[in-house]
Amino acid sequence: MKTLIYYFTGTGNSLAVAKKLCSRLGDCELAPIASAVKNPGPIAPDADRVGIVSPLYFVGLPSIVADFAGRLDLSRVAYAFSVITMGGTGGKATLRQLDKILKDKPGGRGLDAGFSVRMPGNYILMYESQGEEYIEKTLNDADHRIAEIADMVSAGAREPPSWSPFASLIHAVMYPRFIRGVHEADRKFSVDDRCTACGTCAEVCPVGNIRIEDDRPVWLHHCEQCMACIQLCPTDAIQAGKTEGRRRYRNPEIEVGMLKEQGGR
Ligand SMILES: Cc1cc2nc3c(=O)[nH]c(=O)nc-3n(C[C@H](O)[C@H](O)[C@H](O)COP(=O)(O)O)c2cc1C
Ligand code: SF4
Ligand code: SF4
Repeated sequence: MKTLIYYFTGTGNSLAVAKKLCSRLGDCELAPIASAVKNPGPIAPDADRVGIVSPLYFVGLPSIVADFAGRLDLSRVAYAFSVITMGGTGGKATLRQLDKILKDKPGGRGLDAGFSVRMPGNYILMYESQGEEYIEKTLNDADHRIAEIADMVSAGAREPPSWSPFASLIHAVMYPRFIRGVHEADRKFSVDDRCTACGTCAEVCPVGNIRIEDDRPVWLHHCEQCMACIQLCPTDAIQAGKTEGRRRYRNPEIEVGMLKEQGGR
């Protein structure tokens, strides 16, 4: 059974999960959502089984993943599933949002199964990287969860996202404000004298939102707030709010080079 896993990632957690699922499922390919959305019109995957792996942002989908889901045509797919990665909680509400987007369009169909996996948090605007010991334990626990998910997907488990009043309330409180300002939120990003003009920030930006001008990054205001530029700058030269001095995070199993392959440029 051929599987296609679409992924979006900022700091590598979701890519690490997608890669592990793919190798466990066999006959599987990875496709970056940031590339898939570049051409206009419906996105019709040629696969028996389709997965969507994404982080959650403020208990909801990244804007680009919500747009992608609105264009995804699953009518010829036998089994559709999603795995949401998160630093704490909110998976249920995010899966519900995804399921609703998929179902609500003409000829739409929802997810056969939805799962979430706790990973290290990457929202550096609020907190610094949690430190080696926590990261190691969290990734180790996540590996067990990924193995469980792969077994359920292989068995064709039916676990559609369920409605919960609490999850819906948290989504309604946290998500709309974030999503309204998401693309312009890069206006609070700045770069300091540690910048060496290496270009990494522009290369890892999944949506091509950074241009290097006069040896400095310039943000173009179609940001997804994925944190890749801030987290992956080799000299910690990018700041926003209170990020100065905060420890940076990248999933230790994902090289910077792999994060340049989402098609942002
Ligand atoms: C803008 C933003 C908002 C986030 N909001 C939440 C949240 O509401 N709850 C949560 O558990 N984690 C939250 N996170 C953490 C990420 O969901 C988590 O670290 C994820 O695994 C990152 O995936 P990635 O490495 O593939 O980008 C947020 C991260 C970002 C960048
Ligand atoms: S990654 Fe950092 S050092 Fe490199 S160009 Fe961007 S801001 Fe400058
Ligand atoms: S500008 Fe930075 S935070 Fe915004 S999408 Fe690009 S890499 Fe992510």
